[in-house]
Amino acid sequence: MPKADNPRFAAFATPSKGVLILFCEEGLKFGRASRRALEPTGDLIRRAAAADRFTGKSGKSLDIVAPAGLPVARLVILGVGKAGRFKTQDFVKLGGTARGKVPSAAGEATIFAEFAGGALSAEQAAELALGTRLRSYVFDRYKTKRKEGEEPPVKAQVTVAVGNPATAERAWASRQAVVDGVVLARDLVNEPANVLFPEEFARRASALKKLGVAIEVLDVPAMKKLGMNALLGVGLGSQHDSRVVVMRWNGGKKGAQPVAFIGKGVCFDTGGISIKPAANMEDMKGDMAGAACVVGLMHALAARKAKVNAVGVIGLVENMPDGKAQRPGDIVRTMSGQTIEIINTDAEGRLVLADVLHYVNTKHKPKFMIDLATLTGAIIVALGQEYAGMFGNDDRLCDWLTKAGLATGERVWRMPLGPEYDKMIDSKFADMKNTGGRFGGSITAAQLLARFVDKTPWVHLDIAGTALGSPQTDINKSWSSGWGVRLLNQLVADRYER
Ligand code: BES
Ligand code: MN
Ligand code: ZN
Repeated sequence: MPKADNPRFAAFATPSKGVLILFCEEGLKFGRASRRALEPTGDLIRRAAAADRFTGKSGKSLDIVAPAGLPVARLVILGVGKAGRFKTQDFVKLGGTARGKVPSAAGEATIFAEFAGGALSAEQAAELALGTRLRSYVFDRYKTKRKEGEEPPVKAQVTVAVGNPATAERAWASRQAVVDGVVLARDLVNEPANVLFPEEFARRASALKKLGVAIEVLDVPAMKKLGMNALLGVGLGSQHDSRVVVMRWNGGKKGAQPVAFIGKGVCFDTGGISIKPAANMEDMKGDMAGAACVVGLMHALAARKAKVNAVGVIGLVENMPDGKAQRPGDIVRTMSGQTIEIINTDAEGRLVLADVLHYVNTKHKPKFMIDLATLTGAIIVALGQEYAGMFGNDDRLCDWLTKAGLATGERVWRMPLGPEYDKMIDSKFADMKNTGGRFGGSITAAQLLARFVDKTPWVHLDIAGTALGSPQTDINKSWSSGWGVRLLNQLVADRYER
């Protein structure tokens, strides 16, 4: 697991080299430790601020190379505006912004976790550190060459200076677990499909064993025996066998009903016989982002020894066109006994989830189920990349997720379900069909899932917009965001650990 580029905590002290980053509130106001660090520079900050009309507004910064009077290579003053308004999420973002001010050539960076009013709390400093770590993530394992004049990629060691390093370190420990889960999820999503096919994905998920997660892998014969024909049908055209991985973390009361997380793990989605157009098809290596999130979440929960019983289950398949592939018009009998007519082989995610949801619901009898899936292009049309689509049968669970979304910045927007939409997937030949036509595409997809969950409180998160091709933000520069790990970790913490 990634340990190398984790932030450290230390007491306030001017570093002897690297980059020093100080926060400044509107009106050029600094905290005490920052003022002391700036003493040897005389009127440098005043002059630089005047020259640049810098006042400490949020997002603005002063970047001073070789600052006279200080031993460091670079001094960065980062405006935070009016710091009184800061919420948890803002400290994470600020950490990301600060980390972004560190040039790639810098070997180390020191950030003073202090506003004008005083040092940040241990929790706030740990959130800040979390932001630096999320921001510094890069996926470069397949880069073997550098361009002329390009510096070798050095990972700057980040030190967060705080009032009390020991308490900040303790606050960091649980975030370390979560950040490693996010990094794991991002890595899985970025990995190409020739490397990460269902069996290899199952192997990587199995590595959670060393954190005390119980692992069970269902192979094709096991799934046949269970009658998971909807899931198996999707994998028929692939050279790679399908898998289901069950991950169990029992950190809660012995025998207490678990909470369940389910992920769509389509390692590559060509569309199958209903093949997709060539443009951007390479993005479909990320069609397993739901499964990646579940693995990342289970890592986070186990690594921080969360006081909860949780089960994570992922359905791993590859959707390929082939002589053995399933066809439009085929009818499959799901594990639940209900039959589905395949109208479009590209609507495969719901077929995988239909069997996994039924399996988890009947086998593990969870308190609630939350599934994550890059399920429809339509959700990107509806919500863009800022909110995931949320569908559910339980207002309370939806409210909890909405709240956790606002707290972490991984936001969800509730979408409707109802009998009028449900009717749209009735089939002439089977119990239902796997597409509902052009209208309300994300909703009819969710309606199909709803037919496999019964009365159990359930939420479906359509993360096609939030997990892949992520916009560049303060806390993510990668193609994949690792979306959902922090959200669901927050939900567990709010509901089971308070
Ligand atoms: N994996 C796709 C959805 C997707 C699209 C995810 C873009 C991420 C980015 C899914 O399997 C799919 O192909 N959905 C179809 C459904 C249609 C055939 C009813 C879609 O959205 O077009
Ligand atoms: Mn598809
Ligand atoms: Zn898909």
